[in-house]
Amino acid sequence: MLRKYLLLPLLASYGAAVTISVAKSGGNVTTSLQYGAMEEEINHCGEGGLYAELIRNRAFQGSTKYPSSLDAWSAVGRSSLSLQTLADPLSTALPNSVNVKGTGIVGLANEGFWGIDVRPQKYTGSFYVKGSYTGSFTASLLSSTGEVLATTKVASKSVANEWVQHEFILTPKKKAADSNNTFSLTFDGSKTSSGSLDFNLISLFPPTWNDRPNGMRRDLMQALADLGPKFLRFPGGNNLEGDTIEGRWKWNETIGPLKDRPGRATTWQYGETLGLGLVEYMQWCDDLGMEPILAVWAGLALNGEVVPEADLDFYVQDALNEIEFLTGSVDTEYGALRAKIGHPDPWKIRYVEVGNEDHLSDGLSSYRAYRFSAFYNAITAKYPDIQVLASTINMTIPGTAGGDYHLYDTPDNMVTQFDMFDNFSPDHPILLGEIAATEPNNAGNINWDDTHFSMYPWWIGTIGEAVFLLGAERNADKIIGTTYAPFLMNLDSYQWSPTLLSFNSNPDQTARSTSWHLYSLFNHNHMTNTLPATSSDAFGPLYYATGVDNKTNSHIFKAAVYNSTAEVPVSLTFEGVGRGTKADLTILTAPDPFAMNEVGGANIVNSKTTQIKAGKKGEFSFKLPNLSIAVLATQ
Ligand SMILES: *[C@@H]1O[C@H](CO)[C@@H](O)[C@H](O)[C@H]1NC(C)=O
Ligand SMILES: *[C@@H]1O[C@H](CO)[C@@H](O)[C@H](O)[C@H]1NC(C)=O
Ligand SMILES: *[C@@H]1O[C@H](CO)[C@@H](O)[C@H](O)[C@H]1NC(C)=O
Ligand SMILES: *[C@@H]1O[C@H](CO)[C@@H](O)[C@H](O)[C@H]1NC(C)=O
Ligand SMILES: *[C@@H]1O[C@H](CO)[C@@H](O)[C@H](O)[C@H]1NC(C)=O
Ligand SMILES: *[C@@H]1O[C@H](CO)[C@@H](O)[C@H](O)[C@H]1NC(C)=O
Ligand SMILES: *[C@@H]1O[C@H](CO)[C@@H](O)[C@H](O)[C@H]1NC(C)=O
Repeated sequence: MLRKYLLLPLLASYGAAVTISVAKSGGNVTTSLQYGAMEEEINHCGEGGLYAELIRNRAFQGSTKYPSSLDAWSAVGRSSLSLQTLADPLSTALPNSVNVKGTGIVGLANEGFWGIDVRPQKYTGSFYVKGSYTGSFTASLLSSTGEVLATTKVASKSVANEWVQHEFILTPKKKAADSNNTFSLTFDGSKTSSGSLDFNLISLFPPTWNDRPNGMRRDLMQALADLGPKFLRFPGGNNLEGDTIEGRWKWNETIGPLKDRPGRATTWQYGETLGLGLVEYMQWCDDLGMEPILAVWAGLALNGEVVPEADLDFYVQDALNEIEFLTGSVDTEYGALRAKIGHPDPWKIRYVEVGNEDHLSDGLSSYRAYRFSAFYNAITAKYPDIQVLASTINMTIPGTAGGDYHLYDTPDNMVTQFDMFDNFSPDHPILLGEIAATEPNNAGNINWDDTHFSMYPWWIGTIGEAVFLLGAERNADKIIGTTYAPFLMNLDSYQWSPTLLSFNSNPDQTARSTSWHLYSLFNHNHMTNTLPATSSDAFGPLYYATGVDNKTNSHIFKAAVYNSTAEVPVSLTFEGVGRGTKADLTILTAPDPFAMNEVGGANIVNSKTTQIKAGKKGEFSFKLPNLSIAVLATQ
């Protein structure tokens, strides 16, 4: 008896294989775009992150929430810096500037977004200056010990009473020891006529992705390109909503020359320049082949202010203007505006989301009563091809609209929602616009006051996400797409962790998280059609989705193992796939459930691809370890 008792767990663990038979038809067409990206200004995702500008507080933009300041700037030489609001500013959008006063070689230095990466490449800079000056300017990159890493002289064109832009190039000869470097701009105070000069919009860019002016940081774009995102949800998120109605994200203040962009207070404890604006978002989509999912402001601010029904039309019209700006021909009013700022070719917009999480901030009753329908009716009437999405699923979704579901939860709770979409009503397509495992199982429920649940995605959390994602993959005819959120985090200043990618000013230290590896693997194995499967076992601890890429006829099995006491043996057949067929089996594992990929650290995700062959009956036999993610794709 004793002996039998001892054997039982072993038998349970290493018992017969889970047999899975996949039919050759009867599945659904994948309408889901599958895995995308989500961006809003949080954690310096854009500002000081993807947006490659190296100078922090480049134009002294303030807001009522964050008054204009000299943050990130310091005086060089025997000089004093003072913030000014001049009667003749650089532009209405940029009313503040800095006055640098002193004798001898004087100037100002900027510490960047907690450092500046310096390596042998071309840095493109510019600044505006006002005041009569007959000398030259010196622009430099300096190490923390004062070593000059690159320097150049810029002949002065500066005159009294006029803002004149100067441009320069810096080309360091070697890579700096670290990214703890600064930028400085100096001049000879004795050659000014008034003893001081005014500066504004001081900018410096490294080479950008696709060499776009005002473009994106290359290492972070590379990490995104390697992930292969299929869509981008932007510009938020809470950041779209704003803290107040007046503080909302206003699309038409984010376009055109940088000197005409006023900046604004983000909803995440810092100001943004709006250098990364609507057009830059669209170019980002173009550059990575992402489908834009444009969110429009919907009459709710985070402080609970709601636009009354009688006043809503202005905002509905503004959303229509924004869509016309992006998609209209040059004969339309806003299409012409787009052409005027250098983009005659219209973009295509297939998805528009109305607001963000409108079930929060007491927004749900007005959203249900009149806000959503006002936007939905107006957009659908003018643009019948656009799929309009509600920002929640907590309402009766009308007509052809879709919804957006967000899930931040524990790994266990992600797993228990595996079947969420199997019997899902309402019968409307759903965007999974923000998904992440955020808190360990032993912490119980989510504590929303603690937005640093975990520093980075951790392995068991990633497995929990994988199981939830598989539930969505099985129902890829009901899902618009899925994305992790938030997406990026600057480790030197962040508001919410974990995120998919973490970084600092040194591109060599960017961390692609454990969840990045999950999304990348699933993204690179796209099923155009699901195929129904039958199995000897119920789901759990093995969870999976099955289908085919009908462009290549590759049959695909995606799986995750959660909470198993042992390896799970699998015997998998695809109807019509015979003996000897080769398949690639990729298995992701990690050293322990709490392993993470950290900034500056090594990648702990072990990815192993082996080639296996179907046996006599066309079966693929393999074992999947506890806490693993796998994809099998026939060749
Ligand atoms: C960067 O250099 C400054 C000045 O030497 C120093 O105070 C600071 O601690 C350094 N920071 C890092 C991250 O090394
Ligand atoms: C932006 O559009 C709104 C609504 O049409 C308008 O009131 C506002 O003046 C515009 N702002 C700019 C900077 O064009
Ligand atoms: C849905 O709305 C009801 C109020 O109508 C609220 O009690 C509930 O918490 C909401 N659920 C979600 C998921 O927002
Ligand atoms: C995983 O196992 C733990 C411990 O047995 C259990 O408490 C938990 O409910 C399991 N989670 C799931 C999703 O099955
Ligand atoms: C296809 O979709 C239908 C309806 O949503 C569903 O009942 C069926 O299970 C799906 N088939 C597969 C293989 O997922
Ligand atoms: C793949 O499936 C889609 C959706 O059913 C269909 O439109 C397309 O023609 C199929 N392509 C091939 C090569 O079978
Ligand atoms: C499998 O993972 C779970 C965590 O979900 C852990 O509790 C369990 O001990 C693991 N089993 C084995 C055999 O490693």
